[in-house]
This record gives sequence, structure tokens and C-alpha cells, in this order.
Amino acid sequence: MFEKIKENNKYKNLINGNWINSENNDYIEIKSVLDNSTVGFVPTMSQKEVDFVLEKAKLAQKKWRETSLDKRANILYKAAEILEKNVGVFVESMIHEIGKDRKSCKSEVLRTADFIRYTADTIRTMTNECLVGDGFYGGSPKKTGIIKREPLGVVLAISPFNYPINLAASKIAPAIAVGNSVVLKPSTQGSICGLHLARVFEEAGVFEGVIQTVTGKGSEIGDYIVSHKDIDFINFTGSTAIGKRITNKCGMIPVILELGGKDAGIVLEDADLEHTASQIISGAFSYSGQRCTAIKRVLVMEEVHDELVDKLLDKIKNVTVGNPIDDNFDVVPLINEKSADFVMGLIDDAKEKGATILYGDKREGNLIYPTLIKNVTLDMNVAWEEPFGPVLPIIKVKSYEEAIEIANKSEYGLQSSIFTKDINKALNIADKLEVGTVQINNKTERGPDSFPFLGVKSSGIGVQGVKYSIEAMSRPKVTVLNI
Ligand code: NAP
Ligand code: G3H
Repeated sequence: MFEKIKENNKYKNLINGNWINSENNDYIEIKSVLDNSTVGFVPTMSQKEVDFVLEKAKLAQKKWRETSLDKRANILYKAAEILEKNVGVFVESMIHEIGKDRKSCKSEVLRTADFIRYTADTIRTMTNECLVGDGFYGGSPKKTGIIKREPLGVVLAISPFNYPINLAASKIAPAIAVGNSVVLKPSTQGSICGLHLARVFEEAGVFEGVIQTVTGKGSEIGDYIVSHKDIDFINFTGSTAIGKRITNKCGMIPVILELGGKDAGIVLEDADLEHTASQIISGAFSYSGQRCTAIKRVLVMEEVHDELVDKLLDKIKNVTVGNPIDDNFDVVPLINEKSADFVMGLIDDAKEKGATILYGDKREGNLIYPTLIKNVTLDMNVAWEEPFGPVLPIIKVKSYEEAIEIANKSEYGLQSSIFTKDINKALNIADKLEVGTVQINNKTERGPDSFPFLGVKSSGIGVQGVKYSIEAMSRPKVTVLNI
């Protein structure tokens, strides 16, 4: 079923129900993160082509919004089934495009199928509200409000490289479920995965023009598309820098932004250190730390600092490192050379300023070995920057207040973990942390996908999660009966 999306390794875009070649024969070469071989070529779309896509998206949405919830839900169930059936195709595409190991690719695809199904369940059981005017100042029992949810129109979904299936589908499924049309602009490195995903929704029966794709570099086409008059909503996941740029360009177009993080693992003196160390190591290093929710710093009470460090050191030795073509590995080559240079820069800066490297600090091409650093002080960049790579700084703290202060001083506010046996202390600290989610005795992580997922401060705007994404990409419409 995927033959129609390419010809001689040149991929096409899904435009108004057809797979179309680049108009100007202008393509970007997508290279394998693992061996630099060519994975394929994707079109650089022109502004004229984007205009055409958006015109069709507007028209298609008018028809799509009239379909029943049941019909949309059934199409989503079908999409989930097709996705699951083709898991192997997705895994082979992902492994080269984004360098994730097979096991993690497979779990991303299966999780996404679940997400799509859950979205269908949710939309199917969505009910409208009916309010009477009684009981409010000036209200009248003669007024009855019928409150329905309306789609917003055309949703622009912009996805990042690190979860090219999940973070595209988790925008597409709730958006179309509630009657929007979607234009997907996938991350360039990851766009072949995005095109495969669009094909799945097409095969499931989504009407022509309801899902379309736009490929091309964000740095070239991004400003144009995010400020386009035909976009009604932007659902973006990516870096804080690009998120801020979008808000400067998009004017009054509403947005959801899922951005960067600097999630802290806060370890209290009574924590179960064995469990804590396991959680921290897996939270920090899976997929080389290229997760928004990776644990990106440890704030540990001085009483247990040395013991925790010993346990972390013990466990980091079991983190597997290698090329995912050969096997499943925790730490794999980073997405590109620029990212690897950035991570090494953070390590070098920490060393120059007096930190102690406990483990790692080794690079082979873009593969950076898991690196653990202690004696990290607040003047070091690694204490504040999001590395998006396998480096974990440990900061010793004297009190809970100090831990909270350092945690909150970050520009980011995605998640934090607290490790302790005392639930009262955990809840007290959780209350004071400026983040979207606090995990108690667990690594920071996104799921379950039905929970609200959000970042505060520079980590984002708006809330995702199946029900929350449906709400964000729709609005109430009130019709008042005056009788
Ligand atoms: P990125 O460089 O910001 O790119 C994200 C997306 O934005 C890509 O599709 C990119 O396209 C596009 N883009 C680039 N410039 C644009 C512009 N001027 N206008 C509109 N779109 C533009 O991020 P990334 O490297 O792919 O992902 C890593 C970052 O995402 C990390 O900071 C991570 O924390 C964050 N992230 C956050 C969450 C969350 O839920 N909070 C989840 C995952 C990732 P091109 O690829 O063509 O440049
Ligand atoms: O990179 C951001 C993803 O949303 C993280 O999801 O915590 O399940 O790895 P995860």
C-alpha cells in the first residue's frame, strides 16, 4: 500500500487525495543517521503549493465536519488497525531516519495505534451539554443553552524528529476526530515516516483534503505557513526557540506548543536509592536522552549524595551503547553532528569549570557515550541547558528549599520527579514545583496518553492528551433557546 507515495526513491506529498511529485523538481536528500546512506528524497514545497494545499484543506473541512462522530471514529479504528499491521514498514523507515532502535520504534508505533483507538473511543462518547439559565444573577429559567463543540477549521500540525509517528498522530487523530482538517508539516529528518503515516489515514478512508502533507525545511517554509491566513490552529512540538519564533509570526492564530524541558529528578534523604537510581538512569539515557521528558538533572540531598552516585555509576555501566542496525541499544548516535557538538560543548564547559566526569565523555562520530557528571555547580551550562543527549549532571543540595529553588529557576517547566518514601513531603514539594507534571517515585515520562500533558514557562502553551487535545482543537458553540 505504500508504493504510491514514492517513485524511484523520490517521495510525494499527499495533496487533496493524490500523491503528487514536487512541482519544481526540488528535493531534499534524507540521509540515514546511522550510515549516511540515502533513505530517500522529499520535496521542498513552494509557497504556491502550500497555498493550494491550504485552499483544499479549507474546502475539505467543510464537508468533513458534517460527517457523523461514528463515521470519524470508525475511520480512526481502521487507521489504528492499518498502522499496527504495517508496524514492520514503519520500524524500517524510522530506524534509519531517526536512528531509534527497533524495539523502541515498534513500541512507538503500537502506542500510537492505541492512542488513535482511544481517540475514537473518546469522540464516540462525547456528549453535548444543555444548560438552563436558572440560578444565575439575571438568569432566567426561560433560557436554555445548547452547547456543542465545533471544530476550529484547518489545523497545522508540526512534528519533531524524535517521535515522528506518535507526535504526528497525536495531533492528527484528535484534530480530525472533532471535525478539523489537518496539514502535517513533519520534521525534515522524520518526514518519510510522516508521509507513511498520512498514507495510513488515507487508506483508512479519510476524505480527500482532510489530511495533507507539506514537506520542506522549516527554516524556509515555516514562517510562511505559520502565518498563513487559511490556518486556524497550530499544534506544534519542537524546540523552545522555534516555538517562540512561531508565536512571534502567527499573530492571533491559536496554538498549542509542546517545547523543551530540563526535568529534574529530586532525591530526598529517605528515598529507596536502588529504585531511584534505576529510574534516573533509564529516564536520562533511553534514546540517548533525545526525549522532551528525559531526566536532565539530578538534585540530591547531601546526606545521600555519595550513595546515590555509587548506585548511578553502577547502573550506568549497564546502559547499552551502539548502532541500532545491529541490535537494540539505549544509547544510539544522535540525530546530527550539530547536536553531538552541542552535547560535547556542555561536557567541556562543565569540565573547565571544575566538574568531575564520573563516566563517559567519549565520542565516536555522533555517538556519545552515556556521561555522568558530579560536582556540577550553577555557573555551568549543563545545569540549565537542555542537552537532548546522553549527559546527566548531578547537583548536591542542602535542603528541600534549595532543591525547589534550583528546580524552579530553570526557564523550563515540563516535569519533575521526586524520590522519597514520605508521601507528605512529596506532595508538599510537588505543590511548589513550577511544572506541568510531577512524578512521585518514577522517572519523568509522557504517558499514559489519556492524562493531560503540558509544560509551563518555556516548556509550552496549552494541554495535550486525548480528551484535552480534542478540547483544544475545538470550541464551544452556544445556541440559546428563549422560550
Ligand atoms: P525543532 O528543530 O524545533 O523542529 C521541530 C519542527 O519545527 C520540525 O518539523 C521543524 O522542521 C519545524 N520548524 C523548524 N523551523 C521552523 C519555523 N521557522 N517555523 C515552523 N516550523 C519550523 O525540534 P526538533 O529538533 O525536531 O525536536 C527536539 C526538540 O523538541 C527538543 O527541544 C524537545 O524537548 C522538543 N520536544 C518537546 C516535546 C514536548 O512534548 N514538550 C516532545 C518532543 C520534543 P525542520 O525539521 O524542517 O526544520
Ligand atoms: O519527547 C517527548 C515525548 O513526548 C516523550 O514521551 O516520555 O513517552 O518518551 P515519553
